[in-house]
Amino acid sequence: MDFKQELGKSLAACLPLSVEDIVSAIETPPDPAMGDYAFPCFKAAKALKKAPPLIAKDVEAAIEKPDFIREIRCAGPYLNFFVDRNVYMGDILADVLEKGENFGRSDLGGGRNIVIDYSSPNIAKPFHVGHLRSTVIGNALYKIYEFLGYNSIGINHLGDWGTQFGKLITAYKMWSSEEAVKEKGISELTRIYVKFHEEAEKDPALDDEARGFFVKMERDDPEAIALWKKFYDISMVEFNRVYDMLGVKFDYFTGESFYNKKMAAIVDELEEKGLLKEDKGAKIVDLEAEKMPPCLIIRSDGGTLYATRDITAAIYRKNTYDFAKALYLTAMDQSLHFAQVFKVIEKMGYDWAKDLYHVPFGLVSLKDGKLSTRTGRVVLMEDLLNTATAKTLAIIEEKNPSLENKEQVAKDVGIGAVIFNDLYNNRIKDVVFDMDKMTSFEGETGPYVQYTHARCASLISKAGDLPETFDYSLLDDEASLAVCRLFETFPDKIRDAAAKNEPYIVSRHIMAIAQAFNKFYHDNPVLSCEDENLRNARLAVVMATRIVLATGLGLLGIKAPERM
Ligand code: ARG
Repeated sequence: MDFKQELGKSLAACLPLSVEDIVSAIETPPDPAMGDYAFPCFKAAKALKKAPPLIAKDVEAAIEKPDFIREIRCAGPYLNFFVDRNVYMGDILADVLEKGENFGRSDLGGGRNIVIDYSSPNIAKPFHVGHLRSTVIGNALYKIYEFLGYNSIGINHLGDWGTQFGKLITAYKMWSSEEAVKEKGISELTRIYVKFHEEAEKDPALDDEARGFFVKMERDDPEAIALWKKFYDISMVEFNRVYDMLGVKFDYFTGESFYNKKMAAIVDELEEKGLLKEDKGAKIVDLEAEKMPPCLIIRSDGGTLYATRDITAAIYRKNTYDFAKALYLTAMDQSLHFAQVFKVIEKMGYDWAKDLYHVPFGLVSLKDGKLSTRTGRVVLMEDLLNTATAKTLAIIEEKNPSLENKEQVAKDVGIGAVIFNDLYNNRIKDVVFDMDKMTSFEGETGPYVQYTHARCASLISKAGDLPETFDYSLLDDEASLAVCRLFETFPDKIRDAAAKNEPYIVSRHIMAIAQAFNKFYHDNPVLSCEDENLRNARLAVVMATRIVLATGLGLLGIKAPERM
């Protein structure tokens, strides 16, 4: 039953407002002692030209109480509703158990396509923790949208084209070799890239040479392309290793180079539409009227730019996938870039420019500073995930040394800890890496939620055979009710997370469920409960918790082991 909807109908029968308006106004009081739902009478007061407290009184007298409401109380301009616990809990628990892993799923998206551009690291540069955010937020949104009936299309827009490859070719020819690159992979490429920047400070001619190589790449010069491909392949091996560890997949690896041959047509189109202007030998789209710096399309040396590729990619994606929305996951520092790109597309006359969303996020920092490739101060994703796994294994060795499959569980939990930590706050907030805190089994961490899930799974497996139906009316305590309230709002939270592109709404909610469950478990003996019917009813709460936590963790891209 959709309780809010039902309550809305009853209220609508005695107020000059639509059910929808009423439902959207219904609140959940912060303190359950004030009721389970509250309806503020301000809007109705406007329509009826009457004071809100008077309306509250009239409605209280006139309303036909839905079955699941036990009591209605007026509190000034508010009407507070108290649910009949038995009806309410019985209905929710039955719903969760019946729907199982589909509880919370919807067809809101109606099968429409949503393109999600995430992770998108740069070839030849290490996959550092800065890329983690784009990867895990994008992956969570991918799953959340799928769950809501969209067809998610995940694209890895690899940074595999641009002047940096000219630098790398120059550096490779001067300071590296086939063997060194084969042996050391990306770390060798990083070494020479860092060296290039140091040397180019002293000798600017190196920059010219690098630019020259990039122009060669753009002209399909076989030697330049062969070197570029070498860097590409080496990088992909390392990236794929990290994606495997994180359990992240993409539908397409169409990086920047994919658009090489497609850009000319777009540049022509910009020209035809009268949008290109010459500026010191370069070609730009002027955005002065929009109060933005010009968008550079062609450099004075003829080279294309990041923006040229993004404009081309957006048009390609629209033509290929006809998306309802397209999301771009990058750090906040690219906000201007995307604002410019979206504006240029709008100026080209494409009304779907309004469906493009930059979904920015804050930085990742270590306790003592920022991360950068140029200075070499990088924390590699792989090292980080391995550290988290090792820490978790140590915790398991201490708490549960006889656990089967320890290594795998340590991976699922350690990596889950890193992901959860990233997804626990508003995107825009910076993430600080505190390895001890995030891998702890206590506190607001991923392992805490996973541990609660595993506790539920273990209770269920110890319980033995369970009946088909439960006598929910035996559940009568606050703690059970608190868990059920959180189940009720779970589907709303998923929709809200998608509407705001904020996975933290899901992570906070499953944290609340885990906490509420542990309170329930503390207050209510389950397996040791003597009354068998009550024991079974409590087990229904355990089963529902397990289901909802597993779904929530899954939406975040985190595994839910049965044992920990
Ligand atoms: N490679 C870029 C970076 O590491 C991110 C690309 C984001 N996607 C896009 N379509 N521009 O900063």
